[in-house]
Amino acid sequence: MPPKLSRFSIFSQPLDRAAFVAYFLGGVVPLVTLVLVIKRYAGAALLRPGLGGLILSLALLSLASFFVLQRTTRQSVGRAQRHSRRLASLVDASRSLAQTADRDGVVAIATRCAAALTGATAAYFLAFEKTRQGFSVLRSIGPEAEKLYSTHREEIDEMAALALPEDSEQQEAEIVHGEIATLSASAIGVGAGVRTQGALILVRQAAAEHDPAEVGTLTALARLVTVALGNSDLRSQQRNFFAHVTQLLVSTLDAHLDYQTDHSRRVAQLANRIGRAMRLPESQLRSLHFAALLHDIGMLRIDRDSLREGRTAVEKHPVIGFDMLRQIDLWRGIAPFVRHHHEHFDGNGYPDQLRGEAIPLESRMIAVAEAFDSMTSAHSYRAALPQSEALSRIRQASGKQFDPAVVEIFLDLAARGELDVNR
Ligand SMILES: [Fe+2]
Repeated sequence: MPPKLSRFSIFSQPLDRAAFVAYFLGGVVPLVTLVLVIKRYAGAALLRPGLGGLILSLALLSLASFFVLQRTTRQSVGRAQRHSRRLASLVDASRSLAQTADRDGVVAIATRCAAALTGATAAYFLAFEKTRQGFSVLRSIGPEAEKLYSTHREEIDEMAALALPEDSEQQEAEIVHGEIATLSASAIGVGAGVRTQGALILVRQAAAEHDPAEVGTLTALARLVTVALGNSDLRSQQRNFFAHVTQLLVSTLDAHLDYQTDHSRRVAQLANRIGRAMRLPESQLRSLHFAALLHDIGMLRIDRDSLREGRTAVEKHPVIGFDMLRQIDLWRGIAPFVRHHHEHFDGNGYPDQLRGEAIPLESRMIAVAEAFDSMTSAHSYRAALPQSEALSRIRQASGKQFDPAVVEIFLDLAARGELDVNR
């Protein structure tokens, strides 16, 4: 617990007591001992007047040295505490940045951390837009931040431009200090070599003395933010790549199974609605979406003639799809959902005759969505069933082919009119 601060206390810091003890043992005790020794062996007369004055001066000097020592220790402790707070903030920021996958999250953490590190009353993350050669505010913090930006936009943008990383080779963050509306301001360039380049702007009330330790911490933060922005770029490229590859595969599959145009996309939409009604987390909904899009991907390896031959060839498609997907790192997690989308809740499905909750939840959801879309779509060999008939068949198969919990949710969605998908 910190010691109580008092106007009259000379012990306001934990180290003050130690400094006082050092002063007492090293200054006061030897002086008193000297006085006693002189008085005892040389007589009281010797203490007056010259030697007495000398001893008094020594006493005052040693007291002064105590106050100097106290001041120095307070400054050192203050510096150490500030440094340790900055370090803790940086460690926190580093941990949060490592767990953040998207650019907006990185920007929010960077602005918050930079404001906390410097005690800024207004903090901004400005991104440079190459197309219009100007800045846009991605994030601002502080009660007056928006107002200040609207009245001093030019100065703030100018500082950001000075701090902006010049090219992809630039490794060290540029830090620029200046003034905005009589307030002290600093700009730190971030995003060297990545897609989102810009600057963090920090505005402070007091005329800040630019502590070298603070500059070091901000430079370290800029580096962490740049790495995190680069990672979010990579993840977004990866997502973009997989979304387009999936789209390509689904179109190829639609062309291969020409009687089921757009079936996979509709199954993915229906599965998503079931997942949302079940309040599944976003990450599970994403996996469900890809699994539903690719559930029949194994059909691509079955030639058209065999597809017409009947069930034996077609029944191989879940395992073929599973083998195709499990070889791709990012799709390995959804491969079992594809393998088991034709299992039946009562254990009479294929390929592994799993039953009940041994079948992955995502597969049980895809099964209902696929059956509904298949029944309500027109095929070359039969017309589309009315929605009411398809729902009635699904209700009858509840507990047999389908998971009763999923069927209940699906029927609820139907009752609310939420099964219409874009055809
Ligand atoms: Fe299938």
